[in-house]
Order: sequence, then structure tokens, then C-alpha cells
Amino acid sequence: MRRKFRKILVTGGAGFIGSAFVRLAVKKGFLPIIVDKLTYAGDLARLKEVSGKFKFYKIDICDKSRLETLFTREKPDAIIHFAAESHVDRSIKDATPFIEANIRGTQVLLDIALKHKIKRFVHISTDEVYGDIEKGKFSEESPLKPNSPYAVSKAAGDLLVKAYVRTFNFPALIVRASNNYGPWQYPEKFIPRAILTVLKNKKIPVYGKGLNVREWLYVEDCALGIWQILERGKIGEVYNLGSGYEEKNIQIAEKILGVMGRCSEGIEFVKDRPGHDIRYSLSVEKILKQTGWRAQTSLDAGLSMTVDWCINNKQWLFGKWEEINKLYK
Ligand code: NAD
Ligand code: DAU
Repeated sequence: MRRKFRKILVTGGAGFIGSAFVRLAVKKGFLPIIVDKLTYAGDLARLKEVSGKFKFYKIDICDKSRLETLFTREKPDAIIHFAAESHVDRSIKDATPFIEANIRGTQVLLDIALKHKIKRFVHISTDEVYGDIEKGKFSEESPLKPNSPYAVSKAAGDLLVKAYVRTFNFPALIVRASNNYGPWQYPEKFIPRAILTVLKNKKIPVYGKGLNVREWLYVEDCALGIWQILERGKIGEVYNLGSGYEEKNIQIAEKILGVMGRCSEGIEFVKDRPGHDIRYSLSVEKILKQTGWRAQTSLDAGLSMTVDWCINNKQWLFGKWEEINKLYK
């Protein structure tokens, strides 16, 4: 089949979802170009199974002059923009890096991409831009009502992208994904933190009463959905990517304990997150209708694969334990 794009540039390709996308792009025969600052969240170990099959540039997306040199040299024709500060709890402690990377970084990248006449720019965003919803689902037309500093920084990024589409006819699309989980997720996030905690024989910290609901999407399903949008999505459009697998946090903790063969005494209710969003839920009718994509991995199968992965990659996970304890002390 004739390829629509010659050179794919992936920002944040050393991160959790970005690296899953890079592994997929390599499987599809591409030599992706990765731009990543390698913050605490970036790690090239995630790419060891595709080593030698991508190009890597350690660049901050806010660094216009280094990006300019890279674009002139590599001449990418499609960009998938994952790079961001991604953790809500960190944004509550200090919003500054979120404003810098997620808003200013996105603007710098948009300007360079515009100047170099990129054919397609896929902006990776989140369901958190819609705020929370007690009943029903968010569609792509739902208003943006973000609550945390992280969500606000992502919503601002989305609005910048929309402004470039309208003002400059810029060929961008926006993807809004629900909570991802799976191999290589940094254990500051709930699912890998819970698994790591159990592996350390400690109780899983559950915020508040554990009644907040998230929609869990296996990371490889997310990467496949983004691929479909890159190839078949319509310019200027927004696409939700969710799984339909909604669960209260307490139920996730219990499922993890079940998969790991521990009992429910392994849960500890801790101080709630300030401003904690109650529930996220996405309608995915649009992507299903336009591309046929739907999540393939059930929550039970995904959790079981994630637990297995964590057990088989204990060394990587345990290496983050001190950092996580510092973050949550
Ligand atoms: P992550 O934190 O695992 O990875 C982020 C990557 O971006 C890291 O490799 C980091 O080094 C890089 N990065 C950060 N700031 C940078 C900068 N200024 N310049 C260059 N690189 C920089 O994040 P993730 O969970 O893989 O999320 C990827 C994207 O998907 C983010 O845009 C996030 O908002 C979005 N998203 C995440 C989820 C989720 O559940 N994890 C769900 C929906 C959307
Ligand atoms: O919804 C998409 C978003 O999902 C992404 O845009 C973000 O990048 C990603 O971090 C994630 O945000 P959440 O805040 O939903 O994910 P987190 O893993 O931090 O928390 C999931 C739920 O679990 C949330 O209700 C808070 C709760 N929680 C979290 C941690 C870290 C706990 O109960 N205990 C914990 O230790």
C-alpha cells in the first residue's frame, strides 16, 4: 500500500504512550524521528525492543532554534505531538512546568510546523479538558471545562491548535484519550503505583473513598487508535479515544489485588486529591464510524498483562520507588 507520509516525527516518543506509538510505527515499517527532552518521565529503555529503528533528538519543544535545525535537516511531513508534563498531582504542586511545556511548547512546535508546511499534525490531548461528568458521556462537541492545572494546560494547547487550524488553515487534528495503562507507565500514575506498592508489600493508597471513576484504555489500543486518526482522520476535527471500561478506583485496586493473589486488606484510604474530578466518560462513536477503531483489550486482560509486565520488569519499576516516595511524602 502507498504510504501517506514519508517521515513521522514523534514528540515525547520516550514517554509512556509516545513510545508505544513509536513501537507501532516501527512495526509498520517507518523510521520515526523522536524529539524528547528526557524529563524524569522520559526513558529510552522503553524503546529497547526497536533499538536502531528510530532517530532520536534530545530537544526541548520550547527550544525553537534547535527545532528549526532539526526540521531543516530531517524534513518530517507528519507530527504526532505527545510531549507534555502529564501528571495531575505534580501540576497541583507546581503548575509552572505544565504551562511551559504544554502551552508554550505546543505553540513553538505549531509555529515551526506551520513554517515547514507539515502535511499533518496530530495533537494528543486528554478527556480531562472536558472536566468531569456524573452521568452520560462527553462527545467531541462538549464544552471545555478543565479543573486541574494540568487539564487547563492541555485545554489551552487544544485551543491553540484550533486557532492555527482556523487562522492559518493548518492541517491539525486533536485526539482526546481517556486514562491509559499498560507496560512502561511511570509508577506515579495509579495502576503502576498500585502494582509497585503491592510488590513492595505495602497497602495500595486510594484517594478519598475510592469512588472516583476513570475509563481505562490499554496503551496499545490507544496507539492503534492514534494511528487510525493519523491516516484517516479529517483535518480540523477532534476525536475521542476511550474504551468503555469504566471503574471506580477502589474496584481497580481490588482487581489488582485479585490478579496478584493478595486480599482486600491491602488498601489504604489516604487524603483526597484537591479538586479531584469525579468521573470521566467518552463517547467514541465518531472514531468508530469514521475508521472502525474500537478498543480490543478488556480491562481484566489488560490488567493481567500489566501486572505480568511489572513482575517481569521489577528492576525498572523498583528504580522509581524512591522518587515516588519523595513525590508523595
Ligand atoms: P509521559 O509523562 O509518560 O511522557 C511525556 C514525554 O514527554 C516524556 O518522554 C518527556 O520526557 C517528554 N517531554 C516532556 N516535556 C517535554 C518538552 N518540553 N520537550 C520535549 N519533550 C518533553 O506522558 P504520557 O502518559 O505518555 O502522555 C503522553 C501524552 O498523552 C501527553 O500529551 C498527555 O497529556 C496525553 N494523555 C495521556 C494520558 C494517560 O493516561 N497517560 C491520557 C490522555 C492523554
Ligand atoms: O484521563 C486522562 C488522564 O489520565 C491523562 O490526561 C493524564 O495524563 C493521566 O495522568 C491520567 O490522569 P488521572 O489523574 O486520572 O490519573 P492518575 O493515575 O493520577 O489517577 C487515576 C485515579 O486514581 C484518580 O481518580 C486519582 C486516583 N489515585 C491516583 C493515585 C496516583 C489514587 O487513588 N491513588 C493514587 O496513588
